[in-house]
Amino acid sequence: MPSHTAAFAPGRVNLIGEHTDYNDGLALPFAIDAGVRVDATASGDVAIHAHAVDLAATDSYELGGEGPSPGGWRAFVRGATAELAAAGLPVRGASLEISGTIQRGAGLSSSAAFEVALCLALLALADADVVPPWPLARICSRVENDWVGAQTGLLDQLASLCGREHAAIRIDFRSGVIEPVALELGDWRLVTLDSGVRHTHAESGYNDRRRECSEICEQLGLGSLRELEPAMLERLPEPLDRRARHVFEENARVDATVEALSRGDLAAVGRLLDASHASLRDLYEVSVPELEAAVAALHAAGAAGARLMGGGFGGHVLGLLPPDAVAPEGAHEVSPGPGARVLER
Ligand code: GLA
Repeated sequence: MPSHTAAFAPGRVNLIGEHTDYNDGLALPFAIDAGVRVDATASGDVAIHAHAVDLAATDSYELGGEGPSPGGWRAFVRGATAELAAAGLPVRGASLEISGTIQRGAGLSSSAAFEVALCLALLALADADVVPPWPLARICSRVENDWVGAQTGLLDQLASLCGREHAAIRIDFRSGVIEPVALELGDWRLVTLDSGVRHTHAESGYNDRRRECSEICEQLGLGSLRELEPAMLERLPEPLDRRARHVFEENARVDATVEALSRGDLAAVGRLLDASHASLRDLYEVSVPELEAAVAALHAAGAAGARLMGGGFGGHVLGLLPPDAVAPEGAHEVSPGPGARVLER
């Protein structure tokens, strides 16, 4: 058994495919460089002693005595040990040092990075067999759903786990197939820009949208929105018809983006980003004025396309800049980096 392990998990950018993951749809995210690192040292007892370095805060509890959820960052740690154990995986007593290079609550999936890094470090410390991406993502999302209180899907965790350099990943949430899609941008750049609004999914309208999607499926007798056919939209009352239309068209935009990338047609990718944003704003209604301002700033700088990213209601927006465009102040270039990994064991 190792006495010390460390794991790193990155955040993500989602190129396109928003609010599709929990609807058995398609998405095209990539892992970024920024993320969360967890160092785990065997404590020799049956307790967890966690230290969130950036917050200068600590937590201690006995394994098996995690609940009820204390909220905040402690909910992630307690949720991770409880859900790993509930899944029948070994968990050892440990001292955990947690530190991050990613902005929290800013739409870059700091939460998923935290969950994934915790699980990988704890599993490595217990010398557990490697858990494949889908089951591990599900364990992480249970932490988020049941301990943190956000009914998020699996997009962020899978992007963090399966990221790779120079490629986005096309995730099909119905078939489970994950494929790399080369992201060759030449002199073009993808940048993120902070809207300045922080959100926590647990408090935002995210859970409302999920409820609306379940309602649509119930009304139409569908197993998931992936089964929706355009003719069915007429049978839905307002605003459910618009929610469903967004999901249907957003799935199509993911494959149109894959296709445009394969042709090297980055101007077309830009138009698809714009169309995704308009749909998220007008049909899915998850934009806020600050996100609109950030998207407008990217367009003013010459972006070929820009859109809100993740759940919406705040966080970062994404823009695609052609070679001659000068990024607006505060924008950061992003490129696909490797997925989550054990650093030491
Ligand atoms: C958040 C959630 C994801 C996904 C996106 C919207 O990032 O964590 O599961 O639903 O919003 O695409």
